[in-house]
This record gives sequence, C-alpha cells and structure tokens, in this order.
Amino acid sequence: MTMPTTENDDRLILGCWRLQQRTPVQIAALLETALESGIRHFDHADIYGGGDSERQFAQALRTIGCPRESIVVQSKCGIRDGHYDSSASHILASVDGILDRLGTDYLDTLLLHRPDALMEPAEVAEAFSRLQSSGKVRRFGVSNFRPMQIELLQSALDQPLCANQLQFGLAHTGPIDAALQANTGFDGGVDRDGSVIDYCRMNGLRVQAWSPLQFGMFEGNFLGHPDFAELNHELNNMAQVYGCSAGAIAIAWILRHPAQMQVLLGSTDPQRLKRLSAARTISMQREHWYALYRAAGNRLP
Ligand SMILES: NC(=O)c1ccc[n+]([C@@H]2O[C@H](COP(=O)([O-])OP(=O)(O)OC[C@H]3O[C@@H](n4cnc5c(N)ncnc54)[C@H](OP(=O)(O)O)[C@@H]3O)[C@@H](O)[C@H]2O)c1
Repeated sequence: MTMPTTENDDRLILGCWRLQQRTPVQIAALLETALESGIRHFDHADIYGGGDSERQFAQALRTIGCPRESIVVQSKCGIRDGHYDSSASHILASVDGILDRLGTDYLDTLLLHRPDALMEPAEVAEAFSRLQSSGKVRRFGVSNFRPMQIELLQSALDQPLCANQLQFGLAHTGPIDAALQANTGFDGGVDRDGSVIDYCRMNGLRVQAWSPLQFGMFEGNFLGHPDFAELNHELNNMAQVYGCSAGAIAIAWILRHPAQMQVLLGSTDPQRLKRLSAARTISMQREHWYALYRAAGNRLP
C-alpha cells in the first residue's frame, strides 16, 4: 500500500502563516526538517504576522545556509485592513515589500489572496506584466477564486494563471460535495464554489489545499477533536492499516484526489511535519477514501 517518495516532488508545501509563533531557532529547525523531508516549496502572504513570517523565514534560511534557487517561494497580496485591493499600485508595492522582507530578488509565484469585487482585470494584467518583465515574479495565481472570477481575470492576462489556493480537507469538503450529491435535495448538493476543482483541472490551474486539518474557518484542528469522533475513529483505524499517523492519513486523503492537489501543511512542529510528510508514500484505496468522506459526516445518495 505504500509507494516510494518521489525525490523533490511538489505535492507538499510548507505554509508559513504560523511561523511567527516560534523562535528563530525553532523556525530554522522546522525549515531544515522540511528540506530533509523533501519539502522545498514555501507559502507566504504579506499579511502573515504583519510581515514577520516572511522576515523570520528569510532569517532562518540564512541561518541554515539554504540557497535561494534550491527552493520555491510564493507569497500573496491583496488583503488590506478591512478591504481587498487588487489595484496595480497596491500589487506592485506589495511585491516590493515581500521581496524586501524575504531578502530575495524574485518570487516563484505571486497569488492574489482573495477575490476583490472592485478588481479591474486590465490593471492586474498591467501589474503582472511589469512584475514578470522586471524578473520580480515568475508565475501568477489566485486564491479562493471561483471559476468565473478566474475567467474574467484570465481574459486580460498575457500569462496563464497557474494555481488557485482553496480551503479543502476532510472537515471542509464543500468544493466536492455538490458534485457528489448532485441531483439530490441534500444540503451538500448546493453548489457554493461553481465546480471550482473541476474547472481548475480542466484549465491547468493547480489546486493548493489550505488549512487541510482545520474545521470551520480557523476554528481548530479536527484531529482528536470530540466533535469529530467518528472521523477520528476512522482516521485512527486507517493509520493502523497504512502504518502512519492519523494526520498523515488526513493529508493522504487530499493527495488521493485525481486533481493532483498540492497540500499546504501548517504545522510548526518538526516532528509532526515529518510524520505528516509520510502522506506522500500512501496510496489510499478507493473504499478507504469514501469511508473517510462518510465518517466526516457526509451522505452519499
Ligand atoms: N489562501 C488562504 O486564504 C489561506 C488561508 C489560511 C491558510 N493558508 C495557508 O495554508 C497554510 C496551512 O494552514 P494551517 O496552518 O491552518 O494548516 P493546518 O495544517 O490545517 O493546521 C496547522 C495547525 O494545526 C495544529 N495542529 C494541532 N494538532 C496537530 C496535528 N496532530 N497535526 C498537525 N497539526 C496540528 C498545528 O500546530 P503545531 O504548529 O504545533 O504543529 C498548527 O497550529 C498556512 O500556513 C498558509 O500558508 C492560506
């Protein structure tokens, strides 16, 4: 049931949102563990820790002597205090701030953090073109976008959008519920996201699953949580079957989806991160995948 880990595969990304909860020494140890575990892709946003996550990440990379070109670094912009801002001036200024805090002269990927109702696609296109031609950003993507919002933006861009970051995990299955419960009167059959995962698959955008172990919007981790007793029971059973931690099973569940999603791991604990990274070696059986979906409280028609 296990497959060899692909060297430097890109299915796992270390999310750096919570980094500032840790000391510089702990962050350096976390990054070393990530690299040893084959995780070389790191996700930031200009707002994480008010910019401190990016600063501390850069400091830790210097401490461990990790060359910039050996890793993939992405960040996000567009969320401001109480509003969203996808104006060209804000995007350009944000990237300068991000590069300065990260101590690098380029980002591999820049994502627009959330849809902005006041977005002017032509303005975003101008900003993206300037960032790409100056070498400051190599690729562009979005986060929490629906298909039509992607279409609208893409219609003005010279570059193909490469990724859409979405909340997805066993306690947040909304993006697949509507398809699974299609043509029923079940609550899960209501389409909130416009078949966004199918859309991304068809159009070459990589889905990046954020907060894979959280329920609600940042309400807590479902692992070991009493409100998810049935799910935890099933996760623990599968952990025995596959010989890994329950957390790794929850991550493997996301990796098993044929969209070939990337998963953003948010742990700041090196030992936990190592255990979670075992998810890449698990090839989950179809019936186990559905058993977990049902144990998370979902109905199949
Ligand atoms: N695009 C967006 O709108 C958006 C929104 C939110 C997040 N994100 C991205 O997604 C990344 C991941 O989000 P997340 O931090 O919420 O991810 P997560 O992996 O779901 O949660 C990690 C948190 O759960 C805790 N935790 C408790 N028990 C755990 C266990 N048994 N196994 C693993 N973790 C456990 C971790 O604590 P320890 O640190 O002590 O392990 C950590 O605080 C972020 O860093 C960010 O890059 C994007």
